[in-house]
Amino acid sequence: MVLEWKKNYSVGVAKLDEEHQRLFELLADIYTAAWENRAGMEEQLFRLIDRMQAHFISEEGYMRRYGYPQPQLVSHIAEHERLIATLLQWHEQAASRRSPGVYRVVKFIGEWYLSHITGCDRQFGRFLAEKIDSAIDAVDCKYC
Ligand SMILES: [Fe+2]
Ligand SMILES: [Fe+2]
Repeated sequence: MVLEWKKNYSVGVAKLDEEHQRLFELLADIYTAAWENRAGMEEQLFRLIDRMQAHFISEEGYMRRYGYPQPQLVSHIAEHERLIATLLQWHEQAASRRSPGVYRVVKFIGEWYLSHITGCDRQFGRFLAEKIDSAIDAVDCKYC
């Protein structure tokens, strides 16, 4: 199961890497908490949704600020929304017998995240790194 961020998951932008790293740490914590019966499924899913949404808002903010082209922007945001919809559905089922169980949730999110980070996020990371570099160049030029 994927529960740890590794250097080769880097998308090339430190701020995003840091957020991704924190999310993997949260997943690992949720898994441990479940084994130790520290918190129920509902509460853990709530934590996860909350943090995932905060990360998506931050990432999508960069996309809009730096003019990420429409087709990629739309499909990337749709991926974020699909994941949140799945988590919200699981959250709703958490108290019932239809609850997916923490192992399935953590495994699914870990795999989803790894595929998303090394796919869509890396593609966006390349775009963003170039934009940030040229923004820094522009600022430097102003004072030279
Ligand atoms: Fe993303
Ligand atoms: Fe991301």
